[in-house]
Order: sequence, then C-alpha cells, then structure tokens
Amino acid sequence: MNVSNKPIGVFDSGVGGLSVWLEIDKLLPNESIVYYADNANCPYGEKTRNEVVEYSAKATQFLIDKGCKIIVVACNTATSQAIDYLRKTFGIPFVGIVPAVKPAAINSKTGVIAILATSGTLKSKKFNDTRREFSRKTEVILVEGGELVDIVENGLQGTKQSEEVLRNYINPLIEGHIDHLVLGCTHFPFLIEDIRKITGDSVVLDDPAPAIAQRTKYILEKENLRASPDNQKKIEFFSSGNIETLKNMVRNCAGIKPWMKFAENKKEN
Ligand code: DGL
Repeated sequence: MNVSNKPIGVFDSGVGGLSVWLEIDKLLPNESIVYYADNANCPYGEKTRNEVVEYSAKATQFLIDKGCKIIVVACNTATSQAIDYLRKTFGIPFVGIVPAVKPAAINSKTGVIAILATSGTLKSKKFNDTRREFSRKTEVILVEGGELVDIVENGLQGTKQSEEVLRNYINPLIEGHIDHLVLGCTHFPFLIEDIRKITGDSVVLDDPAPAIAQRTKYILEKENLRASPDNQKKIEFFSSGNIETLKNMVRNCAGIKPWMKFAENKKEN
C-alpha cells in the first residue's frame, strides 16, 4: 500500500470550515491537516463569482505549497462557485460541500424544507441544478443567512443578538411547517444550540459535514493516500487575517493541543 503522511488541506472564508475539520479529525485522527481561513476576504457570500474563484484558487495554491495531498473546500459558497474551476486548474483531488438538499427532501414528512445559506450559494448554478432535481415533490424555501456568518466570525453565538437574528429567520419557517432545515453554510453548525432553542426537536437540522469527512476518507483510500497508523500528526492553522479569531474558535470547539500550530499569512490577499 502506498502511504502518504502529507497533510489534508482544508479551506474556508473563515472559521466556518472548522465544523468540517472537526468531523475529518474525528474520523481520520492520524491524518495531518493544514487549515486555511481566508479571514481577510471573509465573507465570500456577498462577493462576485470571479472574486470567489480568485480567492479559492489562492487558498488552493497556498495549501498545495504546504504539500497537501487533497483539498477539502469546506465552504458551500466556494464549492458552488469555484470547484469546477479548481478541478480543471489543479492536478489534485478535491472534496466539496453543497447544501444537503437530497437527504432533507427524501426524509421530509411535511413536504416542506428550508435551506439556510449565503446568497452566493443560493444563486449559483450548481446549487440550483440540485435544488430543481429534488423540488419536484418537496417545497424548498430558500433563506439568505449572510448575517449569521458575521455572528459566528465575531464569536457571538449563544448571545441574545444571535438568538434574535435566528428567530427572525426561523419563526416564519416553523409557521410554514418545515420539518428539515438544511445548514447550507459551514459556519451554521456553530449555531446549532441557538437554533435548537427556537425549533426544539420539531425540526431536523441537516449538516453535510459528517458526509464530507466520509467522502474524504473514501477518496484517500481509493487513491492510496491514507497516512500510516504511526504518522506523527500535525495540525496547522493559517489565517490571511487575524489568527486570534481562528485560535479562539479552535480553543472553544476542540481545545488547543500540543500538535497544533497557528500562524498568519497576510502576504497575498
Ligand atoms: N462558510 C461559508 C459557506 O459555507 C462561507 C460564508 C461566507 O464567507 O459568506 O458558504
């Protein structure tokens, strides 16, 4: 077996992709990972497609320069708008994330589901092709939740402000009888506790991150790229902006471990 102890590269516009990183790290605990947060250009959700493609290509190049063996685009906005370009341009395997419309539509009992995502994701062709395929029998309500990205980037989850903003988004959806809410942005799993205060158990929250970790494992195995069991794992976190935002989030969601390193990369943003 061909073993590769090179790292898995993961990127997002900011801290949101950590929700994907957590699942990958849980499933593949002996793999090294380089995480890149493009905080200098966050949020991606309001940017033009060309800008998102440009930032995603820079993030990918950065991770390739760090020796990564596969790139996980831990951002729905970047996947929806840029992954086709990235696959054509860079000779490395990619895994992307798009809102989990299919499982939500298949499992819905009320026949009404909602997708909470950035405007960039909701207007993309990739997302709309999937949505059309699954909205024949299911009513799909689209909700732009860009404001929630700032809430997570500023560490405001669990505050009154977060709950208030979420109530404005979610109450009309409950009145509309949704039974599935798709978390179509990787920042949103960090709001699950706040969302649950509003929905209780009446709504299933669909987060594709565990499936993305499974997909990453599948591709690494298929390409004979799994790290050896005795790999000296290293996790490196980089930010194109202020590293403290990322460090605080890692501290809160996983704890800072001796094999983790944090640095800023402000050169080319
Ligand atoms: N975390 C991102 C996503 O999944 C991007 C949020 C943003 O930068 O607007 O879409």
